[in-house]
Amino acid sequence: MVKEMDQPARTPTESALPPRTSEEEWRKEFPYPWNEDEIVTRRDTLRFLLAGSGALFLATGAIAILGTLPKNPNLKAIPIAKEGELAEHQWKVFNYPDEYTQGILINLPGHGLVAYSDVCTHLSCAVLYQGDGKLHCPCHEGFFDAATGNVLAGPPTRPLPLIQLARQDGTIYALKEIAR
Ligand code: FES
Repeated sequence: MVKEMDQPARTPTESALPPRTSEEEWRKEFPYPWNEDEIVTRRDTLRFLLAGSGALFLATGAIAILGTLPKNPNLKAIPIAKEGELAEHQWKVFNYPDEYTQGILINLPGHGLVAYSDVCTHLSCAVLYQGDGKLHCPCHEGFFDAATGNVLAGPPTRPLPLIQLARQDGTIYALKEIAR
């Protein structure tokens, strides 16, 4: 007598799953033809791109140094330099927003004073200004554009956070870090 082969036991997870539905039933639950799916995807992509370019525009605009210190109690304004302290291409690091974190302030020809967090967005080494319009991270040869903070080369994928600046009574203040 031939012994019947044992059927493999269903795992508890399999038995807990609802039975599979046919494609027709699936179509009833999700009645979207493929062409419409593509239109939605394109529309969403367009929205995403518009939102992204708007955010980039705002971020770039934030580089411009503010005329005076805004009267906003939520902003932590910290004096970081005297006006005229840095000649073109000169730079300095400063503590912001506390003594454990630093930013880098650069007098960039054609842009004036710009400031970024000096923490590389790859693995957090400190970036340095090279004097040629680029910020350099020596840990893994990451490079950022000093005019925008955007990545130029190397392993970082995200731009450096901007630090918004203000000027009042001959002093430059760091106002706010803007992550991007
Ligand atoms: S930590 Fe800056 S490139 Fe790796």
